Amino acid sequence: MPVKLPRVMTGAELQSMLKSSVNFKSLGGVRVPGLKLGEDKLKWWREAKVGMFIHWGLYSILGRGEWARFNERIPYAEYEQLASEFCPKDFSTDEWAQIASSLGANYMVMVARHHDGFALWDSPGSYLAFDSMHSAARRDFVKEFTASCRKYGMKVGYYYSPMDWRFPGYFDPERLKDNALLMKKQCYSQVNELVTRYGAPDILWYDGGWLAHKGSDTSSSWFWEPDRLNRMVREHAPDCVINPRSGWEGDFYCDEGSAEVSGKIITVPWEKNLCLCSGASWGWMEDDPVQDLDWLIRMLVNVICRDGNILWNIGPDRNGKISPEIRARIAEFGAWIKQNGEAIYKTRGGPVEPVDGVFGTTFSGNRVYVHILDKAAFGQMRLQGLNANVLCACAPDGAPVPFTQTEEGVKIDVSRLADSTDTIVRLTIDKEPIPTVSEVYFSGKQ
Ligand code: GLC
Repeated sequence: MPVKLPRVMTGAELQSMLKSSVNFKSLGGVRVPGLKLGEDKLKWWREAKVGMFIHWGLYSILGRGEWARFNERIPYAEYEQLASEFCPKDFSTDEWAQIASSLGANYMVMVARHHDGFALWDSPGSYLAFDSMHSAARRDFVKEFTASCRKYGMKVGYYYSPMDWRFPGYFDPERLKDNALLMKKQCYSQVNELVTRYGAPDILWYDGGWLAHKGSDTSSSWFWEPDRLNRMVREHAPDCVINPRSGWEGDFYCDEGSAEVSGKIITVPWEKNLCLCSGASWGWMEDDPVQDLDWLIRMLVNVICRDGNILWNIGPDRNGKISPEIRARIAEFGAWIKQNGEAIYKTRGGPVEPVDGVFGTTFSGNRVYVHILDKAAFGQMRLQGLNANVLCACAPDGAPVPFTQTEEGVKIDVSRLADSTDTIVRLTIDKEPIPTVSEVYFSGKQ
């Protein structure tokens, strides 16, 4: 049966529909009928809400960010030497998975290979055998990571960069075509390895589908043929959730970085990925300040009330260790999220449109969770657009919260609730809201 393609939307219409501060990467990806997962297959991912991202590799030895090799023009021979020093002490991916679990994450995405070309697994497809099996460590870290994720009930995600700075052809694909094609061959072999050697991954997270650092992830699709690449992925991992940054449109949209999230509920699947620290680098940097708890909670609330997922990045040090400061913040955030899990996991954003800086809602079944970020401002407002009768309102501990409902909306008296970053009120309503999902394709054209 022919697959019906969704309506095409241009960038301008997207901006107007989103009315949001999010800035999606990789608009205009190649469309391949039938390759995208349906909502049924995305359900676990949507319900999972929180993931942990890990940037760790040779660059963690230098501690100047994962772009160090490129930014500092480190010659390949010199950078390659780092592999002979790459031998983490007392390293354990179980520890990563335990930390992810204490963060409240349900999935992990590990950088399996970044733009520097160093693969963190035993990769026969790696050009010049630049992988962890041929480093001092002689270990397959992707294998260890995958086993730990499965052991601790985390879904398994791999980040993979199609491009690789080691190839001069990356910088000049027209003139150095053969070399560029060698890089493409490596990409196909390595992606094949990632989807076949350790069981099917749950998430494939591409980054770097451009050429010569120009254009966007989608403008070099003539070269990468992401439709062919991801068809191959689907053969081995039919249910894998794939991001859009290989140049194919993907299963969800990505908003990268620490910018605040505001605006309306977003009706396409999306994920905010950002650093738990300053964001100056995704890989390890000494004394990188950790964001405060309040900021982390507000970010999470702003994302989930707009129906998104959040992927928190951390950069372990050369031994794969996560600093005590980061661990402490993770423990605090995790304790908060677990205490309020009912209003977060397995919910959807809405049904009431958020008001920036004041409140947003999530819901599950006939329960609506009002996340109040500014109690004083909220006290002056009414909830509108609920389209249901409120049967009761209560605080997370079950204590009733006074409210009145009229045609103008629902007025909730939060004055007696304790102050907190996110004051949560649970409403039980007489009708189950239905999440809004738009079948649109963002062409990226203005
Ligand atoms: C940015 C960084 C890159 C990092 C990625 C994660 O694009 O430049 O190094 O891996 O964000 O989304």
